[in-house]
Amino acid sequence: MRFLVVGGGAREHAIAATLVRAHATVVVASSNANPGLAALASASARIDPTSPERVVEFARTQGVDGAVIGPEGPLASGVADALRAAKVPTVGPDRAAAQIETSKRFCRELLAKYGVGGQPKLAIPTAVDQVDAAVATLGGPFVVKPSGLTAGKGVWVQGSDFTDPKEGATYAKSILVQGGSVLLEEKLDGEEFSLMAFVTDSGVYPMPAVQDFKRAQEGNQGGNTGGMGAYSQRDHLLPFLSRAARDQALGILEQSVRALRAEGHSYRGILYGGFMLTARGPVLLEYNARFGDPEGINVLSLYEEGNFAELMMGVATGRVDPTLLSFRLRATVVKYVVPPGYGDRPRAGGTLEIDAPAIESAGLRVFYGSVDEVGPGRVRLSNSRGIAIAAEASAIHEAGTRVEAALKFVKGDYYVRHDIGTKEDLARRTEHIRQILAPGAKPSPLPLSVAPASAPPSSSAQPEEMIG
Ligand code: AMP
Ligand code: GLY
Repeated sequence: MRFLVVGGGAREHAIAATLVRAHATVVVASSNANPGLAALASASARIDPTSPERVVEFARTQGVDGAVIGPEGPLASGVADALRAAKVPTVGPDRAAAQIETSKRFCRELLAKYGVGGQPKLAIPTAVDQVDAAVATLGGPFVVKPSGLTAGKGVWVQGSDFTDPKEGATYAKSILVQGGSVLLEEKLDGEEFSLMAFVTDSGVYPMPAVQDFKRAQEGNQGGNTGGMGAYSQRDHLLPFLSRAARDQALGILEQSVRALRAEGHSYRGILYGGFMLTARGPVLLEYNARFGDPEGINVLSLYEEGNFAELMMGVATGRVDPTLLSFRLRATVVKYVVPPGYGDRPRAGGTLEIDAPAIESAGLRVFYGSVDEVGPGRVRLSNSRGIAIAAEASAIHEAGTRVEAALKFVKGDYYVRHDIGTKEDLARRTEHIRQILAPGAKPSPLPLSVAPASAPPSSSAQPEEMIG
């Protein structure tokens, strides 16, 4: 089988590598010259992967049997719609269904309409003079989310990105003033996890759960990023995630797919739920309509025994053979090597020297992200994530140690979070959840530093709606 992979980052490198392991041929449409993809692909087009016309033209000339779309940009611009119209079976929802990721407002309104469980308390002000009232109705610490795509970087959480609620309100107002749409959500306390599933007409098929590290700096400090690294556990649960809680999260995914279908959206692709495990169970933070990056790298590394090309074709054509869903029982850790300052003020242009053969001969894998090859074993960093190093082992901390050891084969000026997958970090998270779930525990200990004491809002200042 011959597949088109759309996108040029480490996640797409992992998708292509998994297809090639299944003896498929891969052609790639991406804007950068990713050395990992170049080594695997039988043809590459340096084109804008968000251009439906260019991507379809390339798919046609290459005579592909199917396509897998990696990033959200092409989903948002209708590349999946265009490929389907050109009779190319595609993994990735149409633009309308991808709104579950591209419009947080669409997502929350859909889930509220169908009474899907596991939602936070939220308010959607639509005018600047509704924001203070929206903050007041939430009645506690809150989170400000631009509705549209922000590459994981637009969300402001009280206590991390701002302390005074007025600052959060000002940020929300600034989004509205610029013509954007904004959501305010109660701030949840708990541990985050990602649960991805293959979704097609025949069902919703979960992958192993993963924990992503979104904050740029160690100890979960610094700005939100696309993800600095991630781990998964041998039993496909997580140190703090029970099977019952995972099943609840899967139930939320299934209900959400039913809601999409009830609105007339078919969905053939990956659905990624970002959840917070809280005292009241898993609560949905967001959906993505694609593999997570890096989470996709964790799970695809475990997909060795089945036939991934057949699985992708099944998702794209509506019927998955469940026997193809086999993920090895191993723990994984993925860490991203990023430019210094990444997350706040990245310094692009530095060169990395990578001894990939040495890393691979130690049994790990290297996936190239937003880098350009400048010579054998040398890549130039952009202001995005550079390379991902993936290891597996029987325990998470062992996989983490293996990635750390492999960093000696990467030379240059870079930053990496050393705390991902350490025993200490895992113990801290497990203890955090133990405290939250303890009988009588009081979740969300952070008090509002300033009570919104302004005059009661006029009727025009009511938030458009309160859900949850
Ligand atoms: P999102 O793009 O909605 O996933 O938000 C990005 C990050 O912000 C999440 O991964 C969380 O770390 C944080 N976040 C989002 N929503 C909430 C919430 N309601 N409570 C606490 N943290 C949140
Ligand atoms: N790692 C988070 C994401 O892929 O959006």
